[in-house]
Amino acid sequence: MIFDTHAHYDDEQFDIDREELIASFKEAGIGNVTNIGANLAGSQRSMDLAHKYDFFYAAVGVHPSDTEELNEENIKALYEWSRDEKCVAIGEIGLDYHWPDPTPEVQKKWFVRQLQIARKVKLPVIIHSREAAADTLQIMHDEHAEDIGGVVHCFSYSKEVAKQCVDMGFYIGIGGVLTFKNGRKMVEVVENTPMDRILLETDCPYLAPEPYRGKRNNSTYLPYVVTKMAQIKGISEEEVIRITTENAKRMYRIS
Ligand code: NI
Repeated sequence: MIFDTHAHYDDEQFDIDREELIASFKEAGIGNVTNIGANLAGSQRSMDLAHKYDFFYAAVGVHPSDTEELNEENIKALYEWSRDEKCVAIGEIGLDYHWPDPTPEVQKKWFVRQLQIARKVKLPVIIHSREAAADTLQIMHDEHAEDIGGVVHCFSYSKEVAKQCVDMGFYIGIGGVLTFKNGRKMVEVVENTPMDRILLETDCPYLAPEPYRGKRNNSTYLPYVVTKMAQIKGISEEEVIRITTENAKRMYRIS
């Protein structure tokens, strides 16, 4: 069964059919899902989903684009959630320089702060990094992220950057972009990353694979990513599913 390691089923795009869709997962070969918080309200909704569905887990954290909502008082919620057995990671956290706001200084401050919380509560991190490779690697080095562990999700950088992340003990999150016709860079990342360091993810509702590119994404489209990965790696689709699911459980420390 496939483990979707990064999804946002709390997104309003799923309001019309969330329950029905989630009910179809088992039959579609989706065994587990981690729902990822992108801000404080989304983190609460992730916890709610993880309590509602036994095969769901939650990550709690604040995405770099939403860090302006944080202060020393409200960030304490992360500690509370992290004590819950269905909370398996801190994330998504990181740096996103695609948009001008919040400023890099604000983003860096809260990235570091949330890494420190993850260290304290002994949970892995889910790192979101876009157009910010150098600063992300710098902070990971400075904060000794190799002791914390986690994944660089929806990986968008070169194979060289992927290697640096893997050398720090991190996993590489791969989703729909792998199937895109202009996805050559991701093919190279998959070719050059050991299979035991790759996680499958949708990042749904975003980044649907071909042939659904541009549509609303969901976990039942992951087999398209599996097929492409199996071709690149020269192994069977069953092997891709088995290994990536083992990787997900190891990273999220789920037995
Ligand atoms: Ni995400």
